[in-house]
Amino acid sequence: MLAVKTDKLTKNYGDFKALDELELQVIKGEIYGLLGPNGAGKTTAIKVLVGLLKKTSGTAQVLDIEIPNKQIASDIGFMPQETAMYIGLTVHQNMEFFGKLFGMTKEQIAIKEAELLKFVDLEDWKDELVQNLSGGMKHRVSLACTLIHEPDILFLDEPTVGVDPKLRANFWKYFNKLKENGTTVIITTHYMDEARNCDRVGFMRQGKLIAEGIPNEIMKDTGTDNLEDAFLHYATIGEASDGPTPDGGGE
Ligand SMILES: Nc1ncnc2c1ncn2[C@@H]1O[C@H](COP(=O)(O)OP(=O)(O)O)[C@@H](O)[C@H]1O
Ligand SMILES: [Mg+2]
Repeated sequence: MLAVKTDKLTKNYGDFKALDELELQVIKGEIYGLLGPNGAGKTTAIKVLVGLLKKTSGTAQVLDIEIPNKQIASDIGFMPQETAMYIGLTVHQNMEFFGKLFGMTKEQIAIKEAELLKFVDLEDWKDELVQNLSGGMKHRVSLACTLIHEPDILFLDEPTVGVDPKLRANFWKYFNKLKENGTTVIITTHYMDEARNCDRVGFMRQGKLIAEGIPNEIMKDTGTDNLEDAFLHYATIGEASDGPTPDGGGE
């Protein structure tokens, strides 16, 4: 039961391979952490999978459908690294816009909006223009907009950058709640405490997945007691050897 499956997925920018025959498999219902240094190709991978970027070659299925395919757009939630909202509109208007985009009725939007604004603690800011909010608050609105249509699979690209630790913990409570409801979550992060919360993590480097596994097992395998060291271990052995084989997670 795979939510994402790629086979030799490649994305070139000119002569540069941002994704180099990427093999990625995400199991339905898991929280999968996509890790790796800046420039590894995490954002490119996500943008290809959500249909915003055209792949160069290889194949990819999301929720069993070969992408790109407009038909699954409404099953996908995507929170971009650079928050994308209408800053000249209020928080409420943004949520309504995204809800309508996915064909929700006013009533459906109202119910979901109330729930989400409570969760991101912005109930009192509903009628404020987004441009007047702080960076962290904009992030929270962006996450709420991403979740409004209850997607089956969520791609979150560094959703917690600039979010304070207390709210970060709240985000994770919510991610876990989504998971309990069967949502698949793919998240990129530089915070190793977050990576530890993932069911599995994959390390990307130069457009490839160079290692993958369950956080505790990765630490055991690399003889380290924290993911940061394990990550460094993989980052430095990447070129010298192939490193551990991604286990792929089965099919
Ligand atoms: N539009 C683009 N044109 C050319 N190169 C790009 C473009 N977008 C990303 N890249 C390059 O592709 C590589 C992967 O970028 P990205 O996917 O953003 O990595 P990550 O999210 O892991 O930091 C980087 O070397 C980046 O400079
Ligand atoms: Mg990125």
